[in-house]
Amino acid sequence: MSAELSRIADEVAHRRTFAIISHPDAGKTTLTEKLLLFSGAIQNAGTVKGKKTGKFATSDWMEIEKQRGISVASSVMQFEYRDHTVNLLDTPGHQDFSEDTYRVLTAVDSALMVIDAAKGVEAQTIKLLNVCRLRNTPIVTFMNKYDREVRDSLELLDEVENVLNIRCAPVTWPIGMGKVFRGVYSLLDDKVILFEAGSDKLITDVEVVNGIDNPRLDELFPLEMEQLRMEIELVKGASNEFNLDEFLAGELTPVFFGSAINNFGIREILDALINWAPAPSARHATLRDVEPTEAAFSGFVFKIQANMDPKHRDRIAFLRVCSGRFERGMKMKHLRLNRDIAASSVVTFMAHERETVEEAFAGDIIGIPNHGNIQIGDSFSDGELLQFTGIPFFAPELFRTVRIRNPLKLKQLQKGLQQLGEEGAVQVFKPHNGGDLILGAVGVLQFDVVAARLAAEYGVDAVFESTSIWSARWVSCEDRKKLEEFENNLVNNMAIDAGGNLAYLATSRVNLQLAQERWPQIVFHETREHA
Ligand code: G4P
Repeated sequence: MSAELSRIADEVAHRRTFAIISHPDAGKTTLTEKLLLFSGAIQNAGTVKGKKTGKFATSDWMEIEKQRGISVASSVMQFEYRDHTVNLLDTPGHQDFSEDTYRVLTAVDSALMVIDAAKGVEAQTIKLLNVCRLRNTPIVTFMNKYDREVRDSLELLDEVENVLNIRCAPVTWPIGMGKVFRGVYSLLDDKVILFEAGSDKLITDVEVVNGIDNPRLDELFPLEMEQLRMEIELVKGASNEFNLDEFLAGELTPVFFGSAINNFGIREILDALINWAPAPSARHATLRDVEPTEAAFSGFVFKIQANMDPKHRDRIAFLRVCSGRFERGMKMKHLRLNRDIAASSVVTFMAHERETVEEAFAGDIIGIPNHGNIQIGDSFSDGELLQFTGIPFFAPELFRTVRIRNPLKLKQLQKGLQQLGEEGAVQVFKPHNGGDLILGAVGVLQFDVVAARLAAEYGVDAVFESTSIWSARWVSCEDRKKLEEFENNLVNNMAIDAGGNLAYLATSRVNLQLAQERWPQIVFHETREHA
């Protein structure tokens, strides 16, 4: 093997790329910060939110940035831990579930699921986990907030197993909770890690007692130990043992217990990610699978974020490297446009700052500044025709027509919507019959974001109104003539989206069913991938 190839293989083996998934308020922001603290990327965690000011308007990470004076720069962060390069991707934290989240999850190799142990499995966790299941993404689970009164731990595991349909293997087990939270017992190496409250600084000298039968534990907790030993016996007998293959297949999740705010249980999670979570693996492309250790560079764009710097109307395209080595200044081929771009100002996102990337390997996320010539789903390579697959757009469930108060701003409106559409902030449909543009979204908050951004970035005061549209389907047909016939016959239901794809806009479930029955050769797609 050449020196270059063995270097690439080594770098890939030392990479972990994961996302944190949780329902809002479970502790994702707190945990993110603690992961940075334990990795040494930041020294002081402080209270991210000494706030009673409500939720953040932008991203939770931007709030960390503001309060902590560190530049976490959006939704991707890289740090080092135990000789490994860890890429952590944020999933949007608001209630409204957006497509963005789905696509972020296509760019990771594993996920960390945070559950508020007082509440159990909540709505957004279910949705996010379902997305992970589509790709069998391995999941590590963290039951948070054991410093509070929480639900019965066995009941929580049951809920995860039944509601999320994934088997649980507790790796640690909580000893008590709330005021009498004593720590966790590590089932794998038979030791008790004693709880100590504390939030700001990293506590490195936590007391560890070896062996559940150690008399030291009876000295410390004379009234509780008998009961706790019984509980642990019960758990050992009743729960699944951790099995690496089942974890990697996405069938079983190792479960950890702790309290993010108290820095308790964090190191165990980081270690689990390093020890067990997979390094970057092969990715599907249209013509073949691409191995991360191949020499030639390749990657795909899964997210676009605009106006990170309000002074420049720049957009950053987030690209997951899938193979080879990225090197600053190298040329890479933008396959959709069939042209080379020189990657000189490509950035990476460290816990401390946004830095120019010198080199990157599979699993890393790099940010490419651009002015709109990169879209979600675009693939890049050293020249080979490799369109990566599996980066979805979902049929929207909510629709609005959009008008402007000032007709002189029509051009700006169109430009703004075209760009927001390409970015994936919202889906934009241009009806064949020349009617008003139609916006489609998965979550209603997307419309608010679009309205605010149209005003702030394009100077357009837009009015959104409800429509009679119930759902949209992208349509295709092997027989071009048939498709044309369909298009002409149902011209009032037809539209083109921002990516130039043909869509059928249905006014009701029955309307859609009828169209499907009458046009059996036409395929109606609920998701689409990049053209
Ligand atoms: P999120 O990003 O998932 O939305 O959660 P975030 O970290 O913001 O945490 C939500 C709330 O839960 C915060 O309370 C945070 O301090 C608290 N929290 C996080 N981890 C723990 C834990 O281990 N124990 C306890 N007791 N609380 C924890 P907050 O600042 O009061 O915010 P809020 O509740 O007013 O939104």
